[in-house]
Amino acid sequence: MGAVTTEKRGNIAVLSIDNPPVNALGAAVRSSLAEEIQAALDDAATGALVITGAGRMFSGGADIQEFGKERPAGVPSLPEVITAIEGASKPVIAAIHGVAAGGGLEISLGCHWRLAAPGARLGLPEVTLGIIPGAGGTQRLPRLIGVEAALEAIVAGNLMPSEKAHALGIVDEISGNDLVADAVAFAEKLVAAGTPPRRTGELEDRIAEARGKPEIFEKFRQGMARRARGFEAPFACVDSIEAAVNLPFAEGLANEREIFARLVASDQSKAQRHVFFAEREVAKIPDVPKDTPTQPIESAAIIGAGTMGGGIAMNFANVGIPVTVIEVDADALEKGLEVTRKNYASTVAKGRLSQDDMDKRMGLIAGSTDYGDVADADIVIEAAFEDMPLKKEIFQRLDQTCKAETIITSNTSSLDIDEIAAATGRPEKVMGTHFFSPANVMRLAENVRGAETSKDTIATVMDLSKAIGKVGVLVGICDGFVGNRMLYAYTRQAGFLLEEGALPEQVDKVIYDFGLPMGPYAMADLAGIDVGWRVRQAQEPTRPKHLRYSDIADRIYEMDRYGQKTQAGWYRYEKGSRAPIPDPEIEKLIVSVSEELGIERRAIGDQEILERCMYPMINEGAKILEEGLALRALDIDIIWIYGFGFPRYRGGPMFYADLVGADKIYDAMSRLYDEHGEWLKPAPLLEKLAKEGKGFGDL
Ligand SMILES: NC(=O)c1ccc[n+]([C@@H]2O[C@H](COP(=O)([O-])OP(=O)(O)OC[C@H]3O[C@@H](n4cnc5c(N)ncnc54)[C@H](O)[C@@H]3O)[C@@H](O)[C@H]2O)c1
Repeated sequence: MGAVTTEKRGNIAVLSIDNPPVNALGAAVRSSLAEEIQAALDDAATGALVITGAGRMFSGGADIQEFGKERPAGVPSLPEVITAIEGASKPVIAAIHGVAAGGGLEISLGCHWRLAAPGARLGLPEVTLGIIPGAGGTQRLPRLIGVEAALEAIVAGNLMPSEKAHALGIVDEISGNDLVADAVAFAEKLVAAGTPPRRTGELEDRIAEARGKPEIFEKFRQGMARRARGFEAPFACVDSIEAAVNLPFAEGLANEREIFARLVASDQSKAQRHVFFAEREVAKIPDVPKDTPTQPIESAAIIGAGTMGGGIAMNFANVGIPVTVIEVDADALEKGLEVTRKNYASTVAKGRLSQDDMDKRMGLIAGSTDYGDVADADIVIEAAFEDMPLKKEIFQRLDQTCKAETIITSNTSSLDIDEIAAATGRPEKVMGTHFFSPANVMRLAENVRGAETSKDTIATVMDLSKAIGKVGVLVGICDGFVGNRMLYAYTRQAGFLLEEGALPEQVDKVIYDFGLPMGPYAMADLAGIDVGWRVRQAQEPTRPKHLRYSDIADRIYEMDRYGQKTQAGWYRYEKGSRAPIPDPEIEKLIVSVSEELGIERRAIGDQEILERCMYPMINEGAKILEEGLALRALDIDIIWIYGFGFPRYRGGPMFYADLVGADKIYDAMSRLYDEHGEWLKPAPLLEKLAKEGKGFGDL
């Protein structure tokens, strides 16, 4: 059974890669492609070859499942197949439709000419999986389009439309209508003219421009330093392209292969591949199958135009769904809409949105103070104050006002969705939609399932998350849900570290260097110390009284230092600047708290800080899994990547835990528990995994 079939059209052999759904280049395809190419070259009646893809696309690239596994004996590697194509004695033309990504595009770069259908998408997205193109992509692409364009394309890893690929010089011709017929005609002309193969690896002009100019690469590295902080692959892409310029082709290929092999075996690439699969998996809910009926959401309403409500409304307007925003009075409404307007205007000012599009989006956001105006909305999202009696009152009112089909959700960060749902006569149509701040930017939505929430409602809300550009993760009800509950476990320990001897800037640096966008203290100043204070006040009645937390943050609140908004919090801030400056006054406060508590301050190492912050958070994640509040460890990983900027290259906290080893984390937690008590008690699930030599990924 050949995964590649050959059809003769006159003296042209048309080879089709046929491996649905995406023509992935697994072992069978590579063997078959090598054989069919050889057969066509051996056939005296064949003048030229066309390689194309059967079905939807040319090829989506390598079979990711094969990464890290041994290659079966006798099966050629992709670079070997491509070398055979490029070295062919007869012209080989790629006919590209749908997608040519990664190894798929690399095959076409090994061909001597490329034709593409209009609207096909081409690119080398390897970098997003923590690797570099390993089948000649970094060596051949710069030879076709020049170094700077190749750097841009390979480091970004995006797919580009065939029209752009044509303008850059990747694609030689855009096909009129029948791609394969056009490619065959193109090949016939070459044969008739006796044109010899044009081998990409032999092209020198475009790379010669950059030879002896290391500054081009240095400048590029500097330009991407912030964006790519912590990631290995983007920098490896630059190194490999630089080698293409400075080494002979064969050596450049060997160098690329070496870098590829190193990265494919790296923890970063394993983590990024995990995230790639997790992003797809997270939409799957075992008891809510794919064919569960959903309701169309063609209009929405938001209750409250505060910090969250305005941002949530923008998500709808951005995708063309009309949304009505309800406020208590005209002033509050105008204030809320003004913030939204300013948000859009700043995007326009940065050149990332046209004025026309801004006007269209603002035109989709209607403001009102009359609940009657939401009666026909398909979904209403409540984002009023965090106050149970108020939320119950609002839900009751919405239940009476809205049509029977309307789904009603709350953006609460901590309140019991079941209690809120019980205020309505439609608890099956109620759930939580917990957006993260700023709601128009952060892509996470924790969709909270209540005891009575129907499967149709869950399916509808999960689909809606995707439709408005969010990543929806289904979670259960508990204080803080999944993300914040784990966050508290970590910030609590950070507080104790301060009492024991650390300073905010030291803790923040450790967390930043680990890869999060900022540490807990810079984050508290950004979110507002008053906000954190209110959360703690709300938690106070249910806090287990034998468990203490550090009250330094409360004392800072009492000093009227609310963070960036008052230019003073854990740090101080110069006017108009967001750069935190360590403040001796805060250091004095921290030291005096240690004294009060009778703690002799000690030097705390960075590794201890990291473990003390991360392990309790992972431990909390284990408890969340035991309690069934997240479906899988991967759901928690996605929550942390999209809600808190946990570095993708570490795969999320639970994947990171598996890299460290459950046994190591369990040992550390047991030790910390002995030293610091109850908060740090190892979760039974962590203990079980440690004893069985397993990880969260094995669950
Ligand atoms: N701020 C965050 O970072 C954040 C993050 C996630 C979730 N949340 C949750 O989102 C909700 C809203 O938080 P926020 O930060 O946007 O609060 P906010 O105080 O900024 O805004 C709340 C708005 O609701 C309006 N409002 C109050 N009662 C109303 C009513 N009966 N009808 C219509 N409007 C009413 C208020 O006038 C105010 O403008 C809360 O439940 C909060 O816990 C907040």
